[in-house]
Amino acid sequence: MTSEKPKVDMEKIVSLCRRRGFIFPSSEIYGGLNSCWDYGPLGVELKKNIKDAWWQTIVRERDDVVGLDSSILMNPRVWEASGHLVNFTDPLVDCKSCKQRFRADHLQSDKCPSCGGELTESRRFNLMFKTFMGPVEDDAAIVYLRPETAQGIFVNFQNVLGTTRKRLPFGIAQLGKVFRNEITTGNFIFRDREFEQMELEYFVKPGTDEKWFDYWLEQCLAWYVNLGIKREHLLLREHDKKELSHYSRRTVDIQYLFPMGWDELQGIANRGDFDLTQHSRFSGKSLEYFVEETKEHFTPYVIEPSAGVDRSVLAFLCEAYAEEPDPSASLGDARDKSLRTGKDETRVVLHFHPSLAPFKAAVLPLSRKEPLVKMASEVYAGLRKGQMTAYDDAQSVGRRYRRQDEIGTPFCITVDFQSLEDNQVTIRDRDSMNQIRVPVAELQKTLAAKLAGEAFLVLPPGGTVVEKKGG
Ligand code: GAP
Repeated sequence: MTSEKPKVDMEKIVSLCRRRGFIFPSSEIYGGLNSCWDYGPLGVELKKNIKDAWWQTIVRERDDVVGLDSSILMNPRVWEASGHLVNFTDPLVDCKSCKQRFRADHLQSDKCPSCGGELTESRRFNLMFKTFMGPVEDDAAIVYLRPETAQGIFVNFQNVLGTTRKRLPFGIAQLGKVFRNEITTGNFIFRDREFEQMELEYFVKPGTDEKWFDYWLEQCLAWYVNLGIKREHLLLREHDKKELSHYSRRTVDIQYLFPMGWDELQGIANRGDFDLTQHSRFSGKSLEYFVEETKEHFTPYVIEPSAGVDRSVLAFLCEAYAEEPDPSASLGDARDKSLRTGKDETRVVLHFHPSLAPFKAAVLPLSRKEPLVKMASEVYAGLRKGQMTAYDDAQSVGRRYRRQDEIGTPFCITVDFQSLEDNQVTIRDRDSMNQIRVPVAELQKTLAAKLAGEAFLVLPPGGTVVEKKGG
């Protein structure tokens, strides 16, 4: 069963990202640059965690996939061979009155959606960004910013095969920036002109491609679900023959229920032998595979799971976002008044999977006075070696909990005056808001266990459950 109602409005996500330093408009002090974004201190951590999780699953935990980091600028012949120079186009129309441009295939009528004016005939518009290599700006110096990372993999097929001695089926994975001069942009980081992709080209024997296609579709779905996206927020959409890319024999999109509705999160394509055949023809180099035992020569087929990093960031942000009742606000008997947040009875929480959360823990000293600060600083210094940890000593503890909830920090560690006597600290769980008290000597191990998924109320030696006092 799939859901129909998006979890959250885009404005709330954009505003939280701006306010808390996840994502800023590019070159904002100059008025920004359309569809380019800068990832701030929290955004860069979230994005890196997503990329690391992908690399871990796709490359490091597998014996049949190796990594690659090819250059963004490539010999322009690559794009002739790949078909991008001719085929990587969108149909473009201009409004004769207001001069705005639109993708013809996105329009509902033959009038301008902005002013109702008359539109020009549709023409093909190539999405590749061009620049010049070297000091002379003529046609011979034109190079392109890559619009997909995949081609860097195909042109290195023999290099990787020869140096790793991998046998089919095997894959080459690459993660990196790509550029597309999109006609219509928008929906925050959903459609950008500069973005990152996580791509795998998995080479298989022709005839086994359909089986591997199904296998990778399942693997990709499982990756999102394992990192916290509900299965009912994901949908599979098969491309019909007319909309297939020039290289594809079959494509299925994994769609996510974004705030603006269902849309593509990632694609899985069966590229057949299109790319290796084309590069072999254009370069004159054989890109065939040889099976020693049977003396067979053939061009492998390719299954390509291709995901957008920025769209994943958006999906994980939307999925994690929640507004929940704030129990501390209405708590009459809280021993510590600082746990109350005042009138606001809602807390905003990002329920990130711990491996994606920018900070894994935050250390909160109850006061800025010595010797509490010394102890809190030592706890902080100890934790930072193991994981990204924040330190926050401003305002009430209740407010600090809320701040950490809003950026998705799974655990807050409070150092209070009792800690000076019993050498114990309180850990508070972001999701349940339960609290346990543990000896400082057990803190690192306990935190590591909880981050790895241990139930929060499982106690280390000497630990106790703290009676809930809100927040
Ligand atoms: N190599 C195949 C390929 O590039 P694609 O469907 O054009 O396929 C793959 O792109 C993924 O890249 C998409 O599923 C999406 O997640 C992401 N993507 C594509 N265009 C994007 C854009 N303008 N902004 C952000 N992400 C984009």
